[in-house]
Amino acid sequence: MFITFEGPEGSGKTTHIRSLAEHLRQLGYNVLHTREPGGTEIGDQIRSVLFDMKNKAMHPRTEILLFQASRAQLVEQVIRPHLSQGGVVLCDRYADSTLAYQGYGHKVDLEALAEIVRFATGGLKPDLTLLLDLDVEVGLARRAQQGGWNRLDAYDLEFHRRVRQGFLALARQEPARWVTIDAAPPPEIVQAAVKAAVMERLAIAGKSPA
Ligand code: TYD
Repeated sequence: MFITFEGPEGSGKTTHIRSLAEHLRQLGYNVLHTREPGGTEIGDQIRSVLFDMKNKAMHPRTEILLFQASRAQLVEQVIRPHLSQGGVVLCDRYADSTLAYQGYGHKVDLEALAEIVRFATGGLKPDLTLLLDLDVEVGLARRAQQGGWNRLDAYDLEFHRRVRQGFLALARQEPARWVTIDAAPPPEIVQAAVKAAVMERLAIAGKSPA
């Protein structure tokens, strides 16, 4: 079972994935928790190029291809092997982030992006995608408080608004794959919703701990 987590900045994905991973491991599932961009040694090098505040001149097409390079490595080196052993993969962002950020955010043609993403992933799609949805101003304020501000966080408010609307549009287009969760309430409420959505999907898939 391949589960991805998407959402605008500051939606708390990382914390929620960590708690979920722990919960699933306690139940006996073989869980791999990874993230994009990065998740491999090569991917982490690409990540630092992408986020370096010095790289302000980076063209959107360059950005797109670097994200796909990191993704291709992660899919082949980490995700597919774990799935083929019958494990559960939890991935902090995946292909939908390219559609939301580069497509809706930077206004790059969505069809062209979908093609590039298919090439990078070799066609691997998530079984379930959780969208942790949050008002953009609230998310960016949380993010600024946490520190670790990067080059992409620094895009303007309108960019981040388009990204959020992009995620919501993607979720509407494929309702069988997406579950949208309101990330505004206190973390324990959001975590309960995350767990419920994942446990329900594991039950439907008849997937018991490996
Ligand atoms: P990161 O620091 O990992 O934080 P978070 O996922 O918690 O926001 O930042 C990842 C950034 O990269 C985020 O701004 C979204 C962006 N991104 C894209 O623009 N396109 C992509 O394909 C991916 C995977 C991420």
